Amino acid sequence: MNTTVIQKSENIWYKLANYFLRNYQCLIEDPRLFLMRKCARFEIVRDWATMLLKRPTQSREISQENASVLGKLDVDAIAATIETDSCYQGLQLPSYAVQELLNFANSTVGYINREAKRPFRYKGTEQVGADLPENARVCSYMSNGQLSSTMKKLEKDPGILAIAAKFLGAQPVHMGSEISWSFPVPAENHVQQREAAQVFHYDLDDYRFIKFFFYLTDVDMSSGPHAYIRGTHKGKKLLHQLIGTRCADINDEKIVEFYGDRNVVNVCGKAGFGFVEDPLCFHRGTQPTQKPRLMVQIEYAINDYGNIHEALGY
Ligand SMILES: [Fe+2]
Repeated sequence: MNTTVIQKSENIWYKLANYFLRNYQCLIEDPRLFLMRKCARFEIVRDWATMLLKRPTQSREISQENASVLGKLDVDAIAATIETDSCYQGLQLPSYAVQELLNFANSTVGYINREAKRPFRYKGTEQVGADLPENARVCSYMSNGQLSSTMKKLEKDPGILAIAAKFLGAQPVHMGSEISWSFPVPAENHVQQREAAQVFHYDLDDYRFIKFFFYLTDVDMSSGPHAYIRGTHKGKKLLHQLIGTRCADINDEKIVEFYGDRNVVNVCGKAGFGFVEDPLCFHRGTQPTQKPRLMVQIEYAINDYGNIHEALGY
C-alpha cells in the first residue's frame, strides 16, 4: 500500500470515528434532538411529526399598537408563497434599522470563520486581501449579536413572529440569530466552502422551522447573494433524504442538474432587503467575488432544543 492510500484510509476511519462519537454524545445528552436529527430528513416523518406537534395558535395581531418594523404585511400570502416556492422575497427593513445594525457591526468584535480564538473588529473600510486576517472568509458576531438592541427587537417583531407562527402552525420558538460578514476571499477547498455554507445543502434544525434574512449591504451577483433551489423543501430525491445534511458533500453541479437550473434563484437586493425561507430547501451563500456582504439571520422552530448548533458541534 502506498502512503497516499494509507493516509486516505486513516482519514476515512478518523471521519467515521468522529461521526459516531458526535452521534453518541448527542444521543446521551439530548435523545429528543438525536431522534429529530435522524428522522426529520424524511419528508413523510416530518409531515406526521408536524401534524402531531402542531398546537392551535391564534393568528397574531399586527396593529397600530403592535406594529411591525416591516410595515404592512400579508402574512397569509407570505406563508403560502414559502409553502409553494420555498422562499418569499420582499421584506424591507427601514433605513434607520439598517443603520443601527451597521453601526453595531462596525463597533463590535466578531469572530473570523466563527472561531472563538480569532476575534476581529471589522470596520467596513479594510481592504480585502491587505487588511483582513489570513483566510478570513466569514466574520460572525456570534453571541455578541445579542448585544444589539435592534437585533433583539427584530427577534420579537410582531410581523416576523406572525409570519413564523402562520408558517409553523405553532408558537414560534426562537432558535438563534446571527449577524455575519462574508468576504470575497476564495475558499481553498470543499471543506472550507461547506463550513462557510457556500455549497448547496439543507438544514435539519427541527421537523418544521423557518429562517428570516436581511441584507445590511447592497447585494448583487458579485457580493455573494443567497441562493436557493425553488420547491426543494419538498419532494427530494430519496438519496438526498437518506443522507440528510451530508448532501453538502455532493457537488453543487449535481444537485442543480437534478433539481433543474431554472429553479435556482439568486437573491439580490439593496441594504434592508429581506426574505424568509424554509431551510429544508437546498440553499447556499454564494461566494462573494468583489464586495463583502453583511447579513442578519433569525431562525424559529416548533421545538426548543436549546443551542442546537452548539450541541451538534458546528
Ligand atoms: Fe443552511
